Amino acid sequence: DLSPADRAKFATARRAVDFVEDGMRLGLGTGSTAAWMVRCLAARIRDEGLNITTVATSTRTAEQARSLGIKVVTLDEAKWLDLTIDGADEFDADLNLIKGGGGAHLQEKIVATASDRMVVIADPSKEVETLGAFPLPLEVLAFGLNASRTLVEQALTSLDVAGREAVLRMNGDQPYRTDEGNCILDLHLRRIGDPRQLSMVMNQIPGVVENGLFIDICDAVVIGHADGRTETRD
Ligand code: A5P
Repeated sequence: DLSPADRAKFATARRAVDFVEDGMRLGLGTGSTAAWMVRCLAARIRDEGLNITTVATSTRTAEQARSLGIKVVTLDEAKWLDLTIDGADEFDADLNLIKGGGGAHLQEKIVATASDRMVVIADPSKEVETLGAFPLPLEVLAFGLNASRTLVEQALTSLDVAGREAVLRMNGDQPYRTDEGNCILDLHLRRIGDPRQLSMVMNQIPGVVENGLFIDICDAVVIGHADGRTETRD
């Protein structure tokens, strides 16, 4: 028996997997919605005997995909991808996104950008008028972390945002570490007036590896509802 939230995630995941065609090289996202998509993909590969090569956006997703018999290679082995299907923490009417709630936005952004097409799978709770209620993740090197954080907070004072707090993501009593061994600062901005400018300014700060804003990367969002209906924005 699935919860309404899981039924919505399953609905969007199953619909998005319809876009997969035999012979494709696919990027696999990270998160609970993407995990449903990996299960749906494994079922299609098995039932239809599809020849699909995938690249995962995290070790978590790679392990799940391999455990279901899906072929996983590195992005350099795949060279380029036809399609990436991934979740998001927020999306707006322009299909700009906040990602990285799961701490994987660095690999996710590389993989999505190295794909001809990116399709986001989401439930209705992810849709926002203005990005920023969800804290924006920044992947930051552990070296000089406090200096980078000071620079981030200084830069935010001249940007069009409503909040300015940068919170170090923790894993118990230790800083959370990404797949690359970096740390995450979650920026509590509440409202992001100019996502493009914010993204560019954050990525200029020494020590910041990548921010969780995806601007002009997503081509379509498939929204799944708990009753099984889906709608697509593109
Ligand atoms: C992972 O780093 C994130 O970008 C995820 O895509 C995002 O957190 C969505 O996760 P859920 O599908 O679990 O909401």
